[in-house]
Amino acid sequence: MNVAIFASGNGSNFQVLAEKIQSGKFPASLKFVFSDKQDAYVLKRAKKLGILSFSFKLKEFTNKEIYEATLVELLKQYEIDLVVLAGYMKIIGTTLLKAYEGKIINIHPSFLPEFSGLHGIEDAWNAQVKESGVSVHYVDAGVDTGEIIKQVRIPRLENDTLESFEQRIHKAEYQLYPEVLEKLIRKGLKT
Ligand code: GRF
Repeated sequence: MNVAIFASGNGSNFQVLAEKIQSGKFPASLKFVFSDKQDAYVLKRAKKLGILSFSFKLKEFTNKEIYEATLVELLKQYEIDLVVLAGYMKIIGTTLLKAYEGKIINIHPSFLPEFSGLHGIEDAWNAQVKESGVSVHYVDAGVDTGEIIKQVRIPRLENDTLESFEQRIHKAEYQLYPEVLEKLIRKGLKT
């Protein structure tokens, strides 16, 4: 299975997934990483790992359709079967969704549908929850609304700070995302 990862920022999830795929433990090939931010740290990580990367901004295009059509072309060119979003900060539009329906997955740092949106960890923290979580889901037209593939609960401990809570959630992401990816690769996508 050919995989592409989309990321806009730090890329710690990208790094974990890339290392896992590169280790050759499951039958997948990471063809490239795409970032819509040219100065994103994920691009440095890709370089270090020797992974091909592409980067262009939505602003360089007349509209989102053309931006996404360019992405679809790239995905087709590299015969990508699965698009893995790892901190990709754009809503997937109809052009990409139509071309890759059921073939785009995302990770979100909360137990969806709780705390969807941009600040899943902080929102859960501010709501003083006893537990939050991590979810991996298929991407649909909404924000963090697609069918859940797998999710885990993460407790908020009594002496947690936002930072330690955040770290525990990220640690769970690094475990869950490769696990789900491996399952999808071995068992196939939903359609
Ligand atoms: C992760 O918390 C992920 O769940 C969310 O964006 C964050 C990306 O972090 N969608 P990183 O860029 O992988 O370090």
